[in-house]
Amino acid sequence: MSALNEQARAILQDNDRGGFTVPTGSLYPFQWNWDSAFTALGFATFDPDRAWLEIETLLDAQWEDGFVPHIIFHGDDQDYFPGPKVWGTNRRPATSGITQPPVAASVVRQLYHAEGPAAEARLRRVFPKLVAWHRWFRRVRDPLNKGLVMIVHPWESGRDNSPEWDAPANAVPTEGAGTYERRDVHVVDSAMRPTKQQYDQYLALVAFGREAGWRHEEIAATSPFQVFDVGCTMILLRAERDLHALAVSLGEEDVATEIEVRISLAQAGIGHLWDEAVGAYCSRDLRTGNTSGMVTSASFLAFYAGVGSDQQRERLLEHLQRIDAAAKYLVPSLDPQHAEFDAPRYWRGPVWAVVNYMLARGFAECGLEEWSDRLKSDTRQLIELTGFHEAYCPLTGQPTGGDTFTWTAAMWLAWAGQLDDV
Ligand code: DGY
Repeated sequence: MSALNEQARAILQDNDRGGFTVPTGSLYPFQWNWDSAFTALGFATFDPDRAWLEIETLLDAQWEDGFVPHIIFHGDDQDYFPGPKVWGTNRRPATSGITQPPVAASVVRQLYHAEGPAAEARLRRVFPKLVAWHRWFRRVRDPLNKGLVMIVHPWESGRDNSPEWDAPANAVPTEGAGTYERRDVHVVDSAMRPTKQQYDQYLALVAFGREAGWRHEEIAATSPFQVFDVGCTMILLRAERDLHALAVSLGEEDVATEIEVRISLAQAGIGHLWDEAVGAYCSRDLRTGNTSGMVTSASFLAFYAGVGSDQQRERLLEHLQRIDAAAKYLVPSLDPQHAEFDAPRYWRGPVWAVVNYMLARGFAECGLEEWSDRLKSDTRQLIELTGFHEAYCPLTGQPTGGDTFTWTAAMWLAWAGQLDDV
């Protein structure tokens, strides 16, 4: 086994807190929703049982309404802010009150595919929870009935400080943020983290949800931040297709039919996120109706979601070629030619292994093998260069954010470091 395979396994094992992994011990010391899902793919390469457990622990924190939280605080940790008291959801275990990109169903399909009928009992345990979560998105976060995902906090996108959120978040009153002390900038260079203004907005939105008692319908209807996220929308549409395949495997015909209806809705509705002037899928603010007008790595998730006409895909690929000419490593989280591009700053420039993984799958499935291979090779090179970091500068390959990062190690094991996958 190569040294990097060994290191990657060791990171997963070291970050294992017993039934769940932390993304990285110092910066994110609890269980994060989409991190856990990607992490399961890494565990699946050497410990399938542990892979299922990661997903089961995540879904065990589901609320009665079907919502699955973005953080599960299995304990307290004074080094993380905002912790359970700030969220004030009063749950056991304590959780945040917002969600995160729903990749779990897609991961579960892969776990099941790898093991086949032997894993049916485990699949049956998580399946109804995944169904309930997808129904929650449709019921609570699809105000235009178009199969899109509206987010009520930038953190729900997983692309926390993407400039796509700047205009809508700048309209959020920040008095509610109060005074607080950030912990993240004690652990990571502040040039790689969101700004103080953004943290004020994040905290004001947490206060808004807390004061609304985390009643999700009420928050969705009244939040000062209501944005259709192109990333969550594409990821949910893809997850619906995967959940549908699972429903068929389990003989759950009624559920399969219900999912088909939602898929048709989303396929028709996704056009609402197409910005013809830009030639890309962009997030759109519900309150102003404006799109972000930005080409982000999430724009290319159209291939992963299986949407877009030939012409639209052509235009997206033209952007990718242009971005390729401007960056050394693909795919930067923001178009490097955009004024807001900031090479080392979190989701305003850096390359993320998990996003490359989803994009590469999408490209391969659409017959774009060269782009798929290219993303795999860039991700492999970035990891070979400096190890398993949170993200990487697209211009130099230098690491950004936290280190010994679980989902990057998982992506190495499941994909980038392996010869025969995607
Ligand atoms: C953080 O603390 O930066 C997290 O990304 C919030 O989810």
